[in-house]
Amino acid sequence: MNYKWQKICESATELENLFLLSKIQTMQVFGTRVCVVKTAEGVYAFRDKCPHNGAALSMGFFNEKEEIVCPLHRYPFDVKTGKATAGMALCLDTFPLKIQDDGVFVGMKKSWWES
Ligand code: FES
Repeated sequence: MNYKWQKICESATELENLFLLSKIQTMQVFGTRVCVVKTAEGVYAFRDKCPHNGAALSMGFFNEKEEIVCPLHRYPFDVKTGKATAGMALCLDTFPLKIQDDGVFVGMKKSWWES
């Protein structure tokens, strides 16, 4: 898959310091509003839009299982896989992260006209 990458911070250290555990941070990545969250297992990025009915997941919260819970109908999602964890066949629109010497980047699939 062909990705385009946008830098979100300068280093892994900055990532560690800027992103607080289980706090939802939002940013614009190539014009898309993205949530970036840090859990005990890692840092994950996904679109700030619930796949159920479009609510802003940045207004949600983490439950005790470290799942993001949508503020509208309270469906929980595993931020690691993106999958809904309460039986629905829904999935977050997730984005890969990569950490390199020159920074930390969020990836988005290129559209067919960008390839
Ligand atoms: S809009 Fe998120 S669970 Fe319904």
